[in-house]
Amino acid sequence: MRNKVTKAIFPVAGLGTRFLPATKSVPKEIMTLVDRPLIQYAIDEARAAGIKEFIFVTSRGKGALEDYFDQAPQLESELRKKDKTELLDVLESTNMESGAIAYLRQHKALGLGHAVWCARRLIGNEPFAVMLPDDVIAAEKPCLQQMVEAYEEVGGNMVAAMEVPRDKASSYGVLDIQEDMGAMVSVKGMVEKPDPGMEPSNLAVIGRYILTPNVLGNLNKMRAGSGGEIQLTDAIAQEIGNDDGVYGFRFRGQRFDCGSKAGFLQATVSFGLARGDLKDDLRRFLTQVVATEKAAE
Ligand code: UTP
Repeated sequence: MRNKVTKAIFPVAGLGTRFLPATKSVPKEIMTLVDRPLIQYAIDEARAAGIKEFIFVTSRGKGALEDYFDQAPQLESELRKKDKTELLDVLESTNMESGAIAYLRQHKALGLGHAVWCARRLIGNEPFAVMLPDDVIAAEKPCLQQMVEAYEEVGGNMVAAMEVPRDKASSYGVLDIQEDMGAMVSVKGMVEKPDPGMEPSNLAVIGRYILTPNVLGNLNKMRAGSGGEIQLTDAIAQEIGNDDGVYGFRFRGQRFDCGSKAGFLQATVSFGLARGDLKDDLRRFLTQVVATEKAAE
């Protein structure tokens, strides 16, 4: 029997420079899509996949993130007094079980691989998930849940993968495919941010992973890779050809890169349109904006 995946690492120690000046004082993960911070989308997805322990790798200036997961007794009692049961339910759905969250610090932003390695003692000898909250995935069945189900079949190391235009591949880790089995591919190589024209395929890795503890062992010995950072991709690639191997998983859903301004705006519109209470007004507004833009051309 395979070990169940019950632990997830959330590396949130990056500098978030693409959102300066906002990220001077607001952690990127607290920025909101409609009315929920990015981190809440990731937590909900993790819970749906059966994750019980949530490990945050943070850095200086991420206090608002820790506060977000505290209970808010004063706010709750005010809402109770005013009989605002719907809002109370919203608040309660964000409560976490005592002891379910651990925070540790990455003292220097040495890269995603290094951030994951910082959590090694809390992971021990079990498979674990890694989730990047910048990647928000709208899906009927949450992405990590799809992956956990696939992992139960094949085991190994699994990375979420999606087709990207060739000219965009150099912004991602890219898979070199051994065998394409449809939803799943077996992998014979992985390249982090390949030089333009050198990408082995157009299948890119995005921010959901299920990994074996061997990857943490590989990170023990890692040196800086692409961009001078310690890359998670390199540590995963070292497992290719080993017993467990590496798989890419084509998830069903739409991924938004909320670490970029364009992706964040697109997600805001898309999540707004998915909300019954907002969609009519928003659609009307968007139609009007497009018509005005067209008329001005
Ligand atoms: P990004 O590449 O998006 O970097 O990191 P960033 O610092 O968050 O944002 P920009 O590029 O400066 O705008 C991808 C993920 O890896 C985490 C980030 O917090 C983000 O979740 N990360 C990155 C770390 O935890 N530590 C690092 O040293 C680097």
